[in-house]
Amino acid sequence: MSKPPQTDPAERRPVTLTKLGEMRALGEPIVMVTAYDHPSAQVAEAAGVDIVLVGDSAANTVLGYADTVPVTVEEMLMLAAAVRRGLRTPLLVGDLPFGSYEASDEQAIATAHRFVKEAGCDAVKVEGSAERARAIVRAGVPVMGHVGLTPQTATALGGYRAQGRTAERAKAVLDEALELQAAGCFSIVFEAIPGAVTDVIVEPMEIPVIGIGAGASTDGQVLVLHDMLGISGGFQPKFVKRYADVRGEMLRGMRAFAEDVRTRAFPAPEHTYGIAPEELARLKQQLGDRQRA
Ligand code: KIV
Repeated sequence: MSKPPQTDPAERRPVTLTKLGEMRALGEPIVMVTAYDHPSAQVAEAAGVDIVLVGDSAANTVLGYADTVPVTVEEMLMLAAAVRRGLRTPLLVGDLPFGSYEASDEQAIATAHRFVKEAGCDAVKVEGSAERARAIVRAGVPVMGHVGLTPQTATALGGYRAQGRTAERAKAVLDEALELQAAGCFSIVFEAIPGAVTDVIVEPMEIPVIGIGAGASTDGQVLVLHDMLGISGGFQPKFVKRYADVRGEMLRGMRAFAEDVRTRAFPAPEHTYGIAPEELARLKQQLGDRQRA
């Protein structure tokens, strides 16, 4: 029987690649979330998740871009470093953004090294690209792969839609996953794949598979923080389950603040600093003296 997950933060040990392999072998589900800032990282730490991904979904969720393509290495490094400072135990994975690893092995290795050295990531993630994944692994950085719907190349995939919906396309997803596995990836994300397809193509995999919109048969699940906690409004993919309404709560709080300021209900005496009466009297005396002089 698998051990219950250790939730006392003080007793939890850092999650290693070996630990993830053991969890897979024991059938213990792996919990992964995205995070893009220090307070969210602290919540992920307190919640006892296993892997935190600084996803390039940061482009949409926190930077206001329309898709993931424009986000830069510098932007990702700043976010990843903030997340690092909020984490102790989860494995920290940084997403290599579009255009930062595809051109050559040298480019891929240099970018991956920056994520490790400058942001303190334990590993990086690449979309597809088994050749680049192999080069990065050989250069000493653990790599997580990503197949199925890969947002950086969504246009070539026919948009943001489920992948592997024909036998040929499903086989192509599996082939790509096996190539990434052979390249030395320690884990792989399956995104937006019919559950029945995942049931079949997860079988030949020997590394932990983390699903997002890929059904229930993967070794773990990941959701984008802003979708899962209801931080942003707007479109929500079919596979998202909402566990909180943070945006609604923020809106409620901000409206209440605005109302209090406008009605002068805030600040109240308890929000205001005091001064000893004799000091206040001396101040008034000094000001009075100055006005009379
Ligand atoms: O960028 C991201 O958030 C991701 C997850 C969807 C896995 O790649």
